[in-house]
Amino acid sequence: MGAMQKEAFLRELLGRMSLAEKVGQLNLLAGGMDSTGMKIPENFARKIRDGRCGAVLNVYTPAATRELQEMALAAPHAIPLLFGYDVIHGHRTIFPIPLGLACSWNLELIEKTAAAAAVEAAADGLHWVFSPMADVCQDARWGRVAEGAGEDPWLGSRIAAAMVRGYQGGENPVAACVKHFALYGASKAGRDYHEVDMSRREMEETHFPPYRAAVDAGARTVMTSFNLIDGIPASANRWLLTDLLRRRWCFTGWVVTDYTAVGEMKNHGTAADDADCAAQAFSAGADMDMMSEAFETELPELVAAGVIDEAAVDAAVMRILGTKWDLGLFDDPFARCDEARAASVHLCSAHRKLARQAARESIVLLKNDDDLLPLSRDASIALIGPLADSRRDMLGCWHAAGDERDASSPLDGFRALSRGEILHAPGCRVAEENPAWLADAVAAANHAEVVVLVLGESLEMYGEAACRTDIRLPECQRLLADAILETGKPCVLVTISGRPLELTDSSDCFQSSIHAWAPGTEGGRALAEVVYGQFSPIGKLTMGFPRRVGQLPMTYREKPAGRPFQSDVSYSSRYLDCPNDALFPFGHGLTYGKIELGELRLEPVEMPPAGSVTATIALSNPGARAVTETVQLYLRDPVASVSRPVKELRGYRRVTMEPGEERTISFVLTDADLAFPGPDFEPIVEPGGFEVMAGLCSRHLRSARFVRLAQ
Ligand code: GLC
Repeated sequence: MGAMQKEAFLRELLGRMSLAEKVGQLNLLAGGMDSTGMKIPENFARKIRDGRCGAVLNVYTPAATRELQEMALAAPHAIPLLFGYDVIHGHRTIFPIPLGLACSWNLELIEKTAAAAAVEAAADGLHWVFSPMADVCQDARWGRVAEGAGEDPWLGSRIAAAMVRGYQGGENPVAACVKHFALYGASKAGRDYHEVDMSRREMEETHFPPYRAAVDAGARTVMTSFNLIDGIPASANRWLLTDLLRRRWCFTGWVVTDYTAVGEMKNHGTAADDADCAAQAFSAGADMDMMSEAFETELPELVAAGVIDEAAVDAAVMRILGTKWDLGLFDDPFARCDEARAASVHLCSAHRKLARQAARESIVLLKNDDDLLPLSRDASIALIGPLADSRRDMLGCWHAAGDERDASSPLDGFRALSRGEILHAPGCRVAEENPAWLADAVAAANHAEVVVLVLGESLEMYGEAACRTDIRLPECQRLLADAILETGKPCVLVTISGRPLELTDSSDCFQSSIHAWAPGTEGGRALAEVVYGQFSPIGKLTMGFPRRVGQLPMTYREKPAGRPFQSDVSYSSRYLDCPNDALFPFGHGLTYGKIELGELRLEPVEMPPAGSVTATIALSNPGARAVTETVQLYLRDPVASVSRPVKELRGYRRVTMEPGEERTISFVLTDADLAFPGPDFEPIVEPGGFEVMAGLCSRHLRSARFVRLAQ
């Protein structure tokens, strides 16, 4: 049915709706199958029956959505409900947490995981997912760093766009919802819901690009963040939601606020009461109110009083009804209430296979002294640690309808692959000592040939409202690690977490260290495959691991400063008690074997305006096994009208090289790669020298220079 029919149908429906019913479409209420906010709606069913609710979150399954849909269709104008849920890294088949999946740097894989999540969510009655989370973050204290793609806006932009394509591009699309707009990842002191304050330049250079990329990829909806922007809550920030998002970025979808964010303007001290909240938020450009119920209760009177124009309400309602039309809800509101379809796609072999591959590629090998890894499958292994047999902590935060019973723990993985003895001992609880367990763990270590120690965070220790001032392993786990190290046995440290950890005191002591994030339903199996070498690790960090929490916030793409660090200059940018750089930097990740980088050549060395420069890097594999690596390209503009970062990621390529193979790979740089926000924050390119750097992480880089000629 064409656009004309859609417009005619929706206009006719709108024309029959009362103001209360129109405002009802702007009301998003939470059902009770999950809890993602404090407030619980009153008269939930009554409001649905009366047509005073347009969408529901935290309800899924064919049966549960059918029941509510039937209620909604019994209302006077039988407008179907939109069902949304936090499917952010899978629905029933759970993929690695987004920060882990990002470490694959594999956009095709990431898109496939979003597409699979869409298939499973749609089969469970859902139309809308609150994903991708595109908040850039440089502070691992913030628990929600787990939900995003890390610290780099260039890579984060590509990942957010890939997820939007995956969610919205398939046969059973779901509407994507890019969040949290905007700047939420810069919450001060890494404390959730804390204030955010930054320059417009930092917004444009660091935080806006991934949101913009998701919008440009066609995201149907945007979710506002809890924080202030220039002193005004994002949900009521007209500059953000109308001037920037709609006018400058040409966003044609609609805006939903985060959970009770409209009402929380009273706490921010920018609104006196719910009427004031509703007036400010709706006028600013928020279309749908998640769980404050301020729109539903206040907008009719605000329209009657002439504060809000009913035409503006009509426009918002049309945007929301348009999504319902596009998703087929007016054709068949029960199309997604199909138990047989749900049973056929949930945890299907194709999705489990995809989850296994995603977990493999998310795992990062942080160190591997003396090539202790991979281990022999015949080795006797003491598998020790409070997370060694945890299935639920493989799923991570926001695991939607994921069920730990469907997941493999590390112990499951090792038992499935080992041909030797596996001795399992927890050693302690996640955050609680147990002397007897500690003794058993030491005994197991003494008995075995090698120890695999699985430590880290339970899924409650990160995610929303789960920030930490101390991002080391819990003390009981550090004591367990010390006891195991005293046995003198070869030991592999495996860490599970939702954030970069402060591993300085731990990983220095271990020959080998693997970070597996929360690797998802197939995580335990994938981890064992990496440890046994059935899959060589290829993950690369998208967020650096600090040496000390006191370094945070930190980023590899820092500005050079007027007194850049110089080891022999006291008056230079430094700490007295810690180096400036990360323990494991952005882009870091080892593999079994290595690829060596040769000469980096640039051609031409003078780039004409609107021309290009080709960077060619020589590679070789001197070892006896095939090696897959991700070669990264960074750029620096050392002299510009504003201070530019010491380096910025501008390209990467995954390469697989056979033993003894030599080859070159090339990257083509154009003005688009050199551009940065100018005085009016539109992209500009300035002539002058540029430095190109290439390497296998953001450190230890080959470099060469070219000049971009003036117009
Ligand atoms: C939560 C989160 C947001 C989520 C929403 C709905 O408070 O901030 O990410 O999508 O509420 O659950």
